[in-house]
Amino acid sequence: MELIDGKKVSGDIKKEIAAEVAEMMAAGKKQPHLAAVLVGHDGGSETYVAAKVKACEECGFKSTLIRFEADVTEAELLATVDKLNNDADIDGFIVQLPLPKHISEQKVIEAIDYRKDVDGFHPINVGRMSIGLPCFVSATPAGILELLGRYGIDTKGANCVVLGRSNIVGKPVASLMMQKGNPGNATVTVCHSATKNIKEICREADIIIAALGSPEFVTEDMVKEGAVIIDVGTTRVPSTVTKSGWKLKGDVDFEHVAPKCSYITPVPGGVGPMTIVSLMKNTLLAAKKVIY
Ligand code: GUN
Repeated sequence: MELIDGKKVSGDIKKEIAAEVAEMMAAGKKQPHLAAVLVGHDGGSETYVAAKVKACEECGFKSTLIRFEADVTEAELLATVDKLNNDADIDGFIVQLPLPKHISEQKVIEAIDYRKDVDGFHPINVGRMSIGLPCFVSATPAGILELLGRYGIDTKGANCVVLGRSNIVGKPVASLMMQKGNPGNATVTVCHSATKNIKEICREADIIIAALGSPEFVTEDMVKEGAVIIDVGTTRVPSTVTKSGWKLKGDVDFEHVAPKCSYITPVPGGVGPMTIVSLMKNTLLAAKKVIY
């Protein structure tokens, strides 16, 4: 069993990005600039946005954090999106999700100029991704493919089971894994809450990508000997041993599943760090104006 070290790979990529940014700056180009909009004080969102700002520093990017209280109106938020769309110094920006219930996430996503949508959530980016055109691919699926590629995992013709059908992970990763390419070219099955026989389907999988948000859903009896396991789950569960009082739990029962695998991602330190570095890669692409 080999552990897929997302922390190490993401560190390597950040160094590659920083070297490229240093070259760009030496050539007199503008410093890449990412803005993040954070609404309210959700613990997870605070942590993710802080990590994104820190990653910008490590990559040599400029970053701007725009904060609103949870009672911000949809109109105010849309006005900020409009301002960022029209700010020539901002190469790309994200609006951290989830948003408070009184704001339509879809409306906000669709208001973002797709050329600055480094999250890859805008329907133009999602559509272009699904037909294999250059676009901003959303960060978690891009990070998963990057890990499979860097570890030389052969996905061609593999039976890949995706657990979960979210717009952010399940759907796009299924689409990328079935596309012609490397990684890609897999035979993909997507399982969700209405799927019958999930255990049997998983037992046939060469690769399982678990993105349900259900701690330890994937158990030993669901995994074939030698399978590759990608765990996207990051549920906060109470803990008596951490200072914060919680720890992250993946969608896979790591302790019992890991011995059966050829490769497995840990939680934390697997997919999570890759998500942030994929956002940095998209920001660099946006700054270089190579996609749009
Ligand atoms: N919330 C959870 N994941 C993400 C992400 O990748 N981008 C944004 N904007 N919000 C999120």
